Amino acid sequence: MTLDEQLKKMAQDWDLRAKENARYYVNTERQDWTDDEFFTSGRRTVEEEILTDMTNICQGKDPKQMRVLEIGCGAGRVTNALSELFGEVWAVDVSAEMIRQASAALAGKNHVHLIHCNGTDLSGITADASFDFAFSTIVFQHIPSYAVIENYVREVNRLLRPGALFKFQVQGDTTIQSTPEDTWLGVPFSDARAVKMADECGFEPRYRHGAGQQYFWLWFFKRPSA
Ligand SMILES: C[S@@+](CC[C@H](N)C(=O)[O-])C[C@H]1O[C@@H](n2cnc3c(N)ncnc32)[C@H](O)[C@@H]1O
Repeated sequence: MTLDEQLKKMAQDWDLRAKENARYYVNTERQDWTDDEFFTSGRRTVEEEILTDMTNICQGKDPKQMRVLEIGCGAGRVTNALSELFGEVWAVDVSAEMIRQASAALAGKNHVHLIHCNGTDLSGITADASFDFAFSTIVFQHIPSYAVIENYVREVNRLLRPGALFKFQVQGDTTIQSTPEDTWLGVPFSDARAVKMADECGFEPRYRHGAGQQYFWLWFFKRPSA
């Protein structure tokens, strides 16, 4: 399978999932999310992963003065909560249908920019390369390619200001058998592989939590010299 074929399949499979039941595939805790429950679950993610970590994330900046980036925004579950906290939010997703649903849910929020991307880079982001923070949750666990994930990490590095944080998850369970065709099960990262990726993409992998588990959190700080 070529990279182009794989990217096309990611877009098609996620469009199908989004048309069938976007909110279920975004968060499989429920089949029948109400608006309120769905966006409350996004606020819970922000409470748990961002509000508890403001020193690393804001580095003394007022959140309302910060421009942030989200990779794999789905139907806008977390994007909405990010938009309640930060001054400017840019979010990308490989699925046009997910972006359509997120755009409908967040209509009227002029500080939110939702971009349908090609599944591997951030060329669609037209803002200056001066992002203050980047975030991604339950996305790279679904990407069956190290090249695609590593390219995103390099791209985030390009867009962040020096010193800024990319906080994200990868699949940490190294017993997972991912295949190139399956766009549900992403490739796993050992701790050593995560550290190598940080080094190669211009980041300091300062903190890591959950190695060996499905939700392996990484705190990558952009190296000043990168
Ligand atoms: C399980 S959902 C999570 C959505 C969102 N992060 C949340 O927590 O609500 C995974 C999302 O990742 C997107 N995705 C999958 N592969 C992607 C890729 N290569 N580039 C960008 N987005 C991708 C899917 O379209 C889907 O919207």
